[in-house]
Amino acid sequence: MILNEYFALSNGVKIPKLGLGTWFIGDDKAAEAVCEAVKLGYRHFDTAEAYGNERGVGEGVRLASVPREELFVTTKLAAEMKDYDSAAKAIDESLAKAGLDYYDLMLIHAPQPWNDFRKGNYAEGNREAWRALEDAYKAGKLRAIGVANFEEADILSLTDAGLMKPMVNQILVHISNTPQELINYCQKENILVEGYSPVAHGEILKNEDIRAMADRYGVSVAQLCIRYDLQLGTVPLPKTANPEHMKENAAIDFEIAEEDMNVLRNFEHIKDYGEFTFFPVFSGK
Ligand SMILES: NC(=O)c1ccc[n+]([C@@H]2O[C@H](COP(=O)([O-])OP(=O)(O)OC[C@H]3O[C@@H](n4cnc5c(N)ncnc54)[C@H](OP(=O)(O)O)[C@@H]3O)[C@@H](O)[C@H]2O)c1
Repeated sequence: MILNEYFALSNGVKIPKLGLGTWFIGDDKAAEAVCEAVKLGYRHFDTAEAYGNERGVGEGVRLASVPREELFVTTKLAAEMKDYDSAAKAIDESLAKAGLDYYDLMLIHAPQPWNDFRKGNYAEGNREAWRALEDAYKAGKLRAIGVANFEEADILSLTDAGLMKPMVNQILVHISNTPQELINYCQKENILVEGYSPVAHGEILKNEDIRAMADRYGVSVAQLCIRYDLQLGTVPLPKTANPEHMKENAAIDFEIAEEDMNVLRNFEHIKDYGEFTFFPVFSGK
């Protein structure tokens, strides 16, 4: 069962293969969602300073029916933090908000601030933020550190300067959006790829062709999507606060045939993300 399976990060830390996304779960609802998910067997939760629910996620982790060390909690340093001092302060604030002694993983949310996504050059700022994460890692506040939305050049701007190699890169991976070259690069470098928005933020649920393939396997579209990310070797992070969906999303004990994987890898990109298209992460950049 997928909920009992783990990948190992490059530093040996174990990370559950399936995580629960929490973007758009309100701070007042997050603790309950985490506790429900833990009851169903989830052990991995993905939050961010930008989601405004670190407090609720942390509360859920503290109230959950299993010990803290059995859970894997990720948060993200706000994309706008591009200097050492504000990054170091933000790390401590994220811990304080959640009421946790440590996070299992903390990521730089994006290589550029959101209002300049994929535009300006923030290489030096990323190195500063990364040094703050490295120091928190060495101090035991973070068990692993990584990045999100980083392209190969963004990763190289850290490692070429002699800084630690990120253990994780969390990127947009869903049927019809498969950044295969970046995935290959990360996997070659032993950087674990996490696939965010595995269900395309809900938009792919409307696609008739994907539904037809899901029907052929006797699974739901969400299940096909999550299984797809997993078979690419990435960690899917489907978001839901609905226990029925949580259960369904973890019931992915089936295998997508290689020829169907090829169809899905080359599947034409969905037209847009509906009312969520304005988010920088869905801008196609
Ligand atoms: N690093 C980044 O920049 C970044 C960017 C985006 C996302 N993320 C992370 O990735 C997580 C997932 O991405 P996402 O929130 O964009 O979207 P997603 O997980 O691709 O899709 C979520 C949508 O799918 C629906 N859904 C989930 N399971 C379902 C099921 N079994 N049946 C029917 N509908 C289902 C949800 O509805 P219900 O809520 O009603 O179940 C919700 O509308 C985020 O929560 C966040 O943790 C990271």
